[in-house]
Amino acid sequence: MKNIDWKNLPFGYVKTDYNVRCYFRDGKWGELEVCSSEQITMHMAATCLHYGQAAFEGLKAYRGKDDKVRLFRWEENCKRLKLSAETILMEPVPEKIFKEACFKVVQLNSEYIPPYGTGGSLYLRPLLIGTGAKVGVSPADEYLFMIFVTPVGPYFKEGFKPVKMQIVKDFDRAAPMGTGHAKVGGNYAASLRAGDRAHKEGFAASIFADAKTKTMIDEAGPANFFGIKDGKYITPDSSSILQSITNMSIRQIATELGLTVERRHVMLDELSTFEEAGACGTAAVISPIGLIQDRETGKEYVYSKDGQPGPWSTKLYKYLTGVQYGEMEDKFNWCEEVRLT
Ligand SMILES: Cc1ncc(COP(=O)(O)O)c(C=O)c1O
Repeated sequence: MKNIDWKNLPFGYVKTDYNVRCYFRDGKWGELEVCSSEQITMHMAATCLHYGQAAFEGLKAYRGKDDKVRLFRWEENCKRLKLSAETILMEPVPEKIFKEACFKVVQLNSEYIPPYGTGGSLYLRPLLIGTGAKVGVSPADEYLFMIFVTPVGPYFKEGFKPVKMQIVKDFDRAAPMGTGHAKVGGNYAASLRAGDRAHKEGFAASIFADAKTKTMIDEAGPANFFGIKDGKYITPDSSSILQSITNMSIRQIATELGLTVERRHVMLDELSTFEEAGACGTAAVISPIGLIQDRETGKEYVYSKDGQPGPWSTKLYKYLTGVQYGEMEDKFNWCEEVRLT
């Protein structure tokens, strides 16, 4: 085990020993390669640099109570990377290569998987980029798929404590018929200005209103939004948000715990009616939202007065993390063990 301050890990980059890479050249994927360099060498006219042919994923491996290492729902990340690749005309990564890469990179860097009980995990960052040279706007004919890993703590420094978020209407992250449903770099570039301003104004993230009508909730920074009221778990249905794997899992947990799940348009007007609100994602896990400010009107919606998460958010969080850390039965078969020897 590496000498790292596991309990105080931020959500940031820590150098590990190895990454894995696979190249698509001459119309086919090659063998998976193990690499110890943090650098990528590529042609200066690579399409990822100029035309945004870049997609990524994010998933985590957890060291459990029983010391087993579990990878959470990697098949779903593989499917979504395929969707992202198809959305921006890149070569999809075959499931066999994706799986081999995930398991191998965790095994190779096992000393960086945070110990059980520290709240940390090993974050896997699969990346798919167009490396072929093009000057006219067109898809590349060569691609690089790679995964690096880094040990992480909570995305929001608050951890499982309510955060403040800000609704923005003067910046858009994604258009309804654009690429918002895919995990492609351009969406994140488009979200930077709003996120940066929100941070400067004292908020953890910005919540984007839908680009077309500015009346509904779209994406909550790097996560999906949810609200809870009257025994219902309510989360936006939108063509321009990422289909969060965490949200997908929480919807199943919510049903299991007796909540009714509604996936539909969530109007900004409805914010005042929620008993609890939160953001969910691999990085955010479940981040309760204590306050939402509508930047345009200045109106504030308060969901936590005592600085504590609400009861449903807490139950959902305990169930989800319980499965991930092997404390609870994995009845949906979400985890796959990564054998280290
Ligand atoms: C924009 C955005 N929305 C939602 C999510 C949550 O998706 P997932 O739960 O699959 O990590 C992410 C990634 O974490 C994201 O970047």
